Amino acid sequence: MNGPKSESPLRPLWLLAELTYSCPLQCPYCSNPLLLGDRSRELATSDWLRVLDEARRLGAAQLGFSGGEPLLRKDLEVIVAEARRLGYYTNLLTSGVGMDEARIAALKEAGLDHIQVSFQADRADLNDRLAGSDSFAHKTEVAHLVKAYGYPMVLNVVMHRHNLDRMREILDMALALEADYIELANTQYYGWALVNRDYLLPTREQLARAEAVAHDYQARFGDRLKIYFVVPDYFEGRPKPCMNGWGRVFLSVAPDGTALPCHAAADLPGLELPNVRDHSIEWIWHQSPDFNAFRGESWMQEPCAGCDNRSDCFGGCRCQAYLLTGDARATDPACSKSPQHHVILDAVQQAAAQSCVPDPVLRNKRNARRLLNREIPFPFPAVRSRTRTADAVADRAGGAD
Ligand code: FES
Repeated sequence: MNGPKSESPLRPLWLLAELTYSCPLQCPYCSNPLLLGDRSRELATSDWLRVLDEARRLGAAQLGFSGGEPLLRKDLEVIVAEARRLGYYTNLLTSGVGMDEARIAALKEAGLDHIQVSFQADRADLNDRLAGSDSFAHKTEVAHLVKAYGYPMVLNVVMHRHNLDRMREILDMALALEADYIELANTQYYGWALVNRDYLLPTREQLARAEAVAHDYQARFGDRLKIYFVVPDYFEGRPKPCMNGWGRVFLSVAPDGTALPCHAAADLPGLELPNVRDHSIEWIWHQSPDFNAFRGESWMQEPCAGCDNRSDCFGGCRCQAYLLTGDARATDPACSKSPQHHVILDAVQQAAAQSCVPDPVLRNKRNARRLLNREIPFPFPAVRSRTRTADAVADRAGGAD
């Protein structure tokens, strides 16, 4: 890793506050860590207020509240009010579970700008099966409340093998709910999603059909509904410019105060994982070895180092490179120039050839324990690096049972 550098002109414009990893849902595509998180180690309200203040002084402007389910934090309204006072544009990323009219009114009063409600599918049975919880009816009520309280209506649907063929119905649902935006977020394979990759990975044909429907709806309804659909990196031959480059604009703070250049970076080996309890945001951003580890281009190896696209894709995703190749400095294997691109091609080919798709491993305490005990096979390095602290965390975790 590169050593600390002197002050960088880069600013953490985008702050993601992961308020808790606890969640009432059990989605198999969750990109959260395999350990569910220890609620007793979550940052206190006063810590979050200090983090918001320090990051704002450093130039942060966009603030996302996520999790887990951020509505589980009873102090959410206090944190939102402080964010408003500091001048952030705030976005709540929620499943809707835990929202009611009193809460949405209180959040409005506190100054929340934006709410994004996630759905798993357009049908209750599929939605609830994927979420591991009966939540569809409530989500629909919350979507109506979001509209009634004058927020921009933003839906998020994570797309994969089990809902891509329902693209038309999902977009019809968005239109019926009078959504202003819908983000059709193709699954990214980190955390639980990587455990469930064989369950989730679609075929190329499914993606092509879904993309055609999305383009059709964009042409017909684009003035009413903004539709975001991006073909996933597994099928592009080009890596995504993950986080817009390591340590360039994005700062994530995990529930226990660990500061990360991306939400998945805690899986990478050799990082010291600075904590906001011990360091200022300014030190973390400018001076910490972690935020400098893959900043700029000096860490790059070939083929990235000599590639004309390196300042567009920033070498792709460091976490994906590590998870799939064991080397965090490697070219992201989603890139067709990567010597290990075959690991992506093999996974896509295997998904296409599957006659029998495995059952999902839902994100809950039981399955976290099974993963950590190796009762569920997981041929990627992240679990191995996390087994050191496994048992205590699985016991005190705040996820579903
Ligand atoms: Fe960590 Fe892409 S998710 S760099």
